[in-house]
Amino acid sequence: MPGAQDMPNSGRARSNHIILLSVLTGFALSIAASCRANKSAGGDEYVQTTAELAEEIPPPQDLLRTQYEAELAEAYPSDALPATATRSFELRAAPTTIPRDDGPPLEVWAYNGQVPGPVLRVRLGEELQVRLINELPQPTTIHWHGVRVPNAMDGVPGVTQDPVQPGESFTYTFVPKDAGTFWFHPHVRGAEQVERGLYGVLIVEDATPLPYSREEVWVLDDWRLGNDGLIDPHFVTRHDLAHDGRWGQRITVNGETELRVPASPGERIRLRLANTSNGRVYSLDFGALAPSVIAVDGMYTGGPLPMTGFDLAPGNRLDLDITVPLGSEGFSYQIVDRFTRRPHVVARIQVSGTPIETPAFDSPTNPNMPVWEGAPDQPLDVTWVLNARRGGERGIEWTINDRVWSEHEPTELEAGRWTRLQFRNDSARLHPMHMHGQFFKVIARNGEPVDEPYFRDTVLLRRRESVDVAMVPLDWGRWLMHCHILEHADSGMVTEIVVGE
Ligand code: C2O
Ligand code: CU
Repeated sequence: MPGAQDMPNSGRARSNHIILLSVLTGFALSIAASCRANKSAGGDEYVQTTAELAEEIPPPQDLLRTQYEAELAEAYPSDALPATATRSFELRAAPTTIPRDDGPPLEVWAYNGQVPGPVLRVRLGEELQVRLINELPQPTTIHWHGVRVPNAMDGVPGVTQDPVQPGESFTYTFVPKDAGTFWFHPHVRGAEQVERGLYGVLIVEDATPLPYSREEVWVLDDWRLGNDGLIDPHFVTRHDLAHDGRWGQRITVNGETELRVPASPGERIRLRLANTSNGRVYSLDFGALAPSVIAVDGMYTGGPLPMTGFDLAPGNRLDLDITVPLGSEGFSYQIVDRFTRRPHVVARIQVSGTPIETPAFDSPTNPNMPVWEGAPDQPLDVTWVLNARRGGERGIEWTINDRVWSEHEPTELEAGRWTRLQFRNDSARLHPMHMHGQFFKVIARNGEPVDEPYFRDTVLLRRRESVDVAMVPLDWGRWLMHCHILEHADSGMVTEIVVGE
């Protein structure tokens, strides 16, 4: 394995230490005896012998990691199957004016003239082809948030592609490997372009979709409007940087301030939620509707989970399984955001009409969710410290391990190797940390083991919190890891993971 020893985060680089530790703690006494015998013969031979032994008898920690890797291999595929068909779309990014339900029209930047952009749907097993046409006054790209795309399709300027200049176009082509709820947005001046309205949902349907009565997609976003009622054109302000990014006063679901959704008693709804806000976190209370969470960040959970305790941080998605109760005719269920001290109704489900028969089937799950028993006892491979410093154009810069993006050092991960990583938030602000092209599982918070039976691509860190995650990187390439509070990202809180040999 040439070079593996040089990689700071490689699982193999640890082998010698682990073997020595095992020897010291008395693991396999006969091995220890033979090591001692060799040691007296000379230091070099000692090292060589332990290295050979590492091949023959893996120490317990390596065994565990190998077992974790085997568990992951069952959870989701490393490769997509050859596509059975292609679905093509065109996304025209351009300035436009859209009506609003609570005031004069808004000047926005939009995909195909609408905010949120169109919902793109593709079936698992099909190829997606999207032609982006840039009619904006700035360069742009599209990033497919949460989708395990080939690296060149990831939409990161200067890392995976050149930015698409005004008047130019670029075609993204890939075969999704996972079914689920994903979204897309520019990765150039994100804090401005996303806030102006450039985002949309990508749904990768199951190969055989489940017989829900209906599917709903709710895109949550907040808008900061100026006194003139237009989008406040001051982006990435010092205030935004000193806080949790840009929080707007106009909270919308699918562009409406209090979305009303009609429903029939007995209906079983699959509700796909996505938070496309620059900084705002939602914590939705569905009251008596009591939904089950069936997917987090696109991927099915190990089983249906209650909604309590789930936040929707910027970038996150949740899929809910909701049955509208029989006998609820005339009811209006309020969906309330309780993340801040000021609860806020974001939508209502209004029940009327004659009852329909509830489709009966088990909620979808991932039956092969890894357990990774004992994972929090494994040594840490990577630590990312999150903090701010004075300096930069705007007076404040957000850092990962004391570095901003232009100074970053990539974290190298060996493909297929189980890895334990830690985010440590040394600041008093929120940081929803997002990894491109990979899924991970939270295994501890503030040093306490937790059991989250699901994957994520984005995890929220609260003030001074530490979160340990584990993953088996499968997708090769250069992937960003950054805070999804877009102002924090635009002021430096971005680094890079390189997955390879
Ligand atoms: Cu939605 Cu780089 O992320
Ligand atoms: Cu942040």
